[in-house]
Amino acid sequence: MCGIVTAISTSDIVPVLLEGLRKLEYRGYDSAGLAVVADGRLRRVRSAGRVADLAALAAREGASARVGIAHTRWATHGVPSERNAHPHVSGGLAVVHNGIIENFEAIKSALENRGYVFESDTDTEAIAHLIHSKLAAGADLFDAVRQATVELTGAYAIGVLSEADPARAVVARSGAPLLLGVGEGGMYAASDTAALLQVTRNVVYLEDGDVAELCVGGYRIVRADGSPVERPVHLSSLSADAVELGQFRHYMQKEIFEQPQALAQTLEIIAGGGSVTPQLFGARAPEVLDGVRRVLVLACGTSYHAGLVARYWLESVAKLPCTVEIASEYRYRDSVPDPDTLVVVISQSGETADTLAALKHALAQGMQRTLAICNVPESAIVREASLRFITRAGPEIGVASTKAFTTQLAALALLTLTLAKLGGRLPAEDEAHHLQNLRHLPVAVQKVLELEPAIERWAQRFAGKQHALFLGRGSHWPIAMEGALKLKEISYIHAEAYAAGELKHGPLALVDKNMPVIAVAPANRLLEKLKSNLQEVRARGGELYVFADAGSEIAESEGVHILQLPEHYGMLSPVLHVVPLQLLSYHAALVKGTDVDKPRNLAKSVTVE
Ligand code: M6R
Repeated sequence: MCGIVTAISTSDIVPVLLEGLRKLEYRGYDSAGLAVVADGRLRRVRSAGRVADLAALAAREGASARVGIAHTRWATHGVPSERNAHPHVSGGLAVVHNGIIENFEAIKSALENRGYVFESDTDTEAIAHLIHSKLAAGADLFDAVRQATVELTGAYAIGVLSEADPARAVVARSGAPLLLGVGEGGMYAASDTAALLQVTRNVVYLEDGDVAELCVGGYRIVRADGSPVERPVHLSSLSADAVELGQFRHYMQKEIFEQPQALAQTLEIIAGGGSVTPQLFGARAPEVLDGVRRVLVLACGTSYHAGLVARYWLESVAKLPCTVEIASEYRYRDSVPDPDTLVVVISQSGETADTLAALKHALAQGMQRTLAICNVPESAIVREASLRFITRAGPEIGVASTKAFTTQLAALALLTLTLAKLGGRLPAEDEAHHLQNLRHLPVAVQKVLELEPAIERWAQRFAGKQHALFLGRGSHWPIAMEGALKLKEISYIHAEAYAAGELKHGPLALVDKNMPVIAVAPANRLLEKLKSNLQEVRARGGELYVFADAGSEIAESEGVHILQLPEHYGMLSPVLHVVPLQLLSYHAALVKGTDVDKPRNLAKSVTVE
């Protein structure tokens, strides 16, 4: 979603703003802009195109300055256009914003009554005029922003600049991410650390309700009531290399191939030890997990699919009833709270608005046993939950989630074993066997990646199709769902996933020679059932692309293409089987020439509802 960069320094900050925006491009955006104060004047450059277009425009205008704000916009209010691109201005004041202001219409109409004229369709412009009205009433810039935030309902991270006061920039956050960067000879703020690594590793995470003033020599933070507050400075361990493409064509490709390493890092926690312990999930885990009788998983998109796989594991291995819900549904549903339920929220970014709201909803209902499985340690979701497991996938830049998913599955496997053990359902030899399989997982994934050339050939064959059907059974049904999501997300081929047993209850009507059917077919106890379902497809002329594994014993024949994964991997088989589906969609997207890392209409972190 939208990305923000703010900078004030003793040297030209325009290159810093532009490089920061480049690093935020992965979040997803449709327009970009920046504003600086130079020679006592506010100057604004906006583009309905990419950051590269904005950089060209800024160069043409000869923009250079010591203070500025910049933004990539993912449209919510108003179409993507230069007119709606940020920054929005009011007099000599400029504002960039990430989030949604829910009461903007009320603020807008009050300001219109006072003579303010709105030029865009955005909610952000209301913030600009609101702050301007506070300045006009005599407040200084810092206080004007603070006063304005008190009137805002909804989610925001904002950066503000005024030509009347070029010695400072002001930022504020509530419900949308924002952190400060403490540099030498400059102060910065951005939506995430990646944008600031170019200038500093010293970062300060703002809390909801914080307002910060940035000057060349330092910063101060106040709460909404004006009381000063201190926040710790962290040294970011994120390396600049981690967010570089290196030898790869796309971040998605890089991240698919990083999975062995991401899994190894995530599972390092059990590398030497011979057993699982509740402490894997935090110091309070023994107390929080004690007496858990059921599990409720809340998540969105790919993270939701990870939860669906875990349901099979939790019920069969830990014997705990498990429900998995789409966060955006759960948060508004009348559900029956149960204090003995462990609420597990899964999120790569830790920023997803619906998942965060679902977690808060569960807490408000008295469900205090909460665990966040997340890839971003300082994120809002992690801070809200009582327990945490940080997947160590490293930054995931491609909009299509890949290494986050497989590391989430690794975390959920550990949770399953831990809960099984606490419930007395994990004999020592089973525990040793599962741990051995987990430790070997990075190697097993590496071997699956070697199938890439064959998958590439398959992708060539069906990249021209309009539709595709994905089938799976048991814990591989969510893998089929994940495969379909990947394909539609980045190649724009319409794809649906079904539990294979459901085929004859409706979707079989869609099958003909133009409908490729992709089947996830591990050698497990459901294989024979699945084979019957595949016969039903063949009998209607459907072309089958089957991902089998060692022991699946499905023969190639006309219209039946088989790719065999090198190992069958028992409970953890879904972790292996998702990898070829990721590669398949990646290569189909390459053939179609889509923007793999930034697919149309999508954002990496969905920080609004
Ligand atoms: O950051 P999160 O894991 O909470 O994100 C949830 C979804 O938005 C995300 O998984 C989305 O579905 C991916 N783009 C799918 O590849």
